[in-house]
Amino acid sequence: MTQATAIIVGANSLLSREIAKQLSEQGVELALLAQDPDSLKNFCDSLPNPVHLFPLNISEPSAIISTIESVWQSIGGAHLVLVNTGQNSYNSALPWLPEQDIITVNVQGFAAICNTSFRLFKEQGYGQLAAINSIAGLRGGPSVAYHASKAFASNYLDGLSMHAQRLKLPITITDLQLGLLDKAAMQKSRIWLSPPSEVARQIIKAMKAGKRRVYVTKRWRLVAWLTKLLPEFVYNTRHWRTKAERLAAKAEGKK
Ligand SMILES: NC(=O)c1ccc[n+]([C@@H]2O[C@H](COP(=O)([O-])OP(=O)(O)OC[C@H]3O[C@@H](n4cnc5c(N)ncnc54)[C@H](OP(=O)(O)O)[C@@H]3O)[C@@H](O)[C@H]2O)c1
Repeated sequence: MTQATAIIVGANSLLSREIAKQLSEQGVELALLAQDPDSLKNFCDSLPNPVHLFPLNISEPSAIISTIESVWQSIGGAHLVLVNTGQNSYNSALPWLPEQDIITVNVQGFAAICNTSFRLFKEQGYGQLAAINSIAGLRGGPSVAYHASKAFASNYLDGLSMHAQRLKLPITITDLQLGLLDKAAMQKSRIWLSPPSEVARQIIKAMKAGKRRVYVTKRWRLVAWLTKLLPEFVYNTRHWRTKAERLAAKAEGKK
């Protein structure tokens, strides 16, 4: 392989498309995996370097494993696999089904993707596995399964990194700990929200530097540090209501 190649799993999200665009502009050949590949055709046509599109089904581990294997075969291996799949929802009544969906995608699906990619990198003899994760995994939180799934992802990547070191293989594992991003890219004045283009730029920079774990954007390192530091009785008194719920409570005259 002369040209750098990257597989992006979960390519339809705004952030994935921004990363794909910047990587393509830097000369990387891409394989994009999305639930609805047809919806990405126009986007792919706009990219300056070769792009291959593949369908993605995360719910069944055997399906995701064979998809990654066949993508790998068809593009002749890859330098980078970037995982950007995830589900999140919040319902204070904690119904089971959304929790189950989050666990299926963020835990079972995530592990199947990372395990398969690691095995393929091992056979190839090198590579980088990077995953877009969240600082939500640092502690439990209101989206119970989501927070726990992000802790799982972090721990899973720790294990793979240890495994690579023990095998003395040049396989880099990068845990990209995201804060929040401004998906609409319309709230530029808000200090904590960065537009996807800036988030993508920092993610690519961290991957190129072979970072093991990085906070994106950088300012979220401070929040991560505080989150870990807060004593339980302070952390637990944080208000978990959504903005709409807070406004409704205010209108009703509640605290
Ligand atoms: N948005 C934020 O502010 C934020 C903050 C911190 C961390 N993150 C992390 O960033 C990652 C992506 O989040 P996002 O906000 O960008 O979410 P998103 O826009 O909803 O993207 C999620 C991705 O996962 C894919 N996906 C979800 N369920 C799937 C399934 N059953 N089968 C196949 N693909 C599935 C989606 O594919 P389709 O588009 O094809 O449905 C999409 O590409 C997550 O790991 C999240 O924890 C996001």
